[in-house]
Amino acid sequence: MSAPPAEAPAVAPDPARVLRVLGTGGTIAGRAACADDVVGYQAGVVAVQDLLQGLPAPPGWTLQTAQVANLDSKDMTVAVWRALLQAVHAALHDPAVGAVLVTHGTDTLEETAWLLQAALAPAKPVVLTGAMRPATARVPDGPQNLTDAVTLATDAALRAAGGVWVTLAGRVFDAAAARKVHPARVDAFGGGDAGPAAWVEGGRVRWLLDPAARVAALEALAGSRGAAVEPPWQAAAWPRVEWITSHAAADGALVRALLAQRCAARAGQDADAPLAGLVVAGTGNGSVHAELADALRQAQQEGVAVWVTTRCAEGEVLPSPHGRSAGGWAVTPLPPAKARISLMLALLAQADPR
Ligand code: SIN
Repeated sequence: MSAPPAEAPAVAPDPARVLRVLGTGGTIAGRAACADDVVGYQAGVVAVQDLLQGLPAPPGWTLQTAQVANLDSKDMTVAVWRALLQAVHAALHDPAVGAVLVTHGTDTLEETAWLLQAALAPAKPVVLTGAMRPATARVPDGPQNLTDAVTLATDAALRAAGGVWVTLAGRVFDAAAARKVHPARVDAFGGGDAGPAAWVEGGRVRWLLDPAARVAALEALAGSRGAAVEPPWQAAAWPRVEWITSHAAADGALVRALLAQRCAARAGQDADAPLAGLVVAGTGNGSVHAELADALRQAQQEGVAVWVTTRCAEGEVLPSPHGRSAGGWAVTPLPPAKARISLMLALLAQADPR
């Protein structure tokens, strides 16, 4: 008589239960000489595995750390961005990994979040967090932000949606909306018109919108990278895209100086990369000072891609029916820091950005 078959589990176990935590530095990894100092500290000192000491993993999950960099994010470089893109890409393609968490300085966190979303369009959750007080502070905010980030990254709705998200001080923002809006408060991030997408409360995520629908909108906003010949971390050089602002008495001298540098670099007389694109933070609805506009037209004629956005803290430029600003410039709904990344990626992909 044969033995009865072993009872099969009702639900197949989910193999993707590793939460990969990638450290890049920031205040969350900062150290000061005394616990009362929350200003004169050094960012990017403490190792990511030490930040996770004592942090419980959600049931069934394993936390796995890797240190990609340990820097003050004001000093973010293309080399670190390349390494991070590569590390996140590898995690997304590892069947054991269910979600990715990135610890990051708050100063350029919004740029890195948009870069990861626009370049990778992750099907698994990628959550970025940081802190406004160093790890040595009497009451640091990093441990709670990390706890919330783990809750968010392993949330069932987010695992189904994927995408890049930011959490700080209990609030959750998508990669396009997240912006640092305050230099000191622990709730230093805002989502502009979009507001928070969710709250992390008592170890649970309370969504204010459908994360899957939001991710679809983010992917549409980022545009297709299908035309890219190679992933950005493999590209030999990233194009120089500068971000300038239109303001009272803007006379275009900065643009003319950049065009002179472009000429010199293309002639091999300047070692820096030649100017390839300009993001202009225009006034109000993307308007540009007439004298700056003259210089921008000259830049376009010389082959520089020009995108216009608004310098307003909230809202986005309302384009004319043919998708251009009132001045005829290509407009982007993204704020300047993120628009700069999208224009770089567009130029890398050799799409026509104009
Ligand atoms: C940084 O961006 O690395 C320093 C500031 C911060 O994390 O709040």
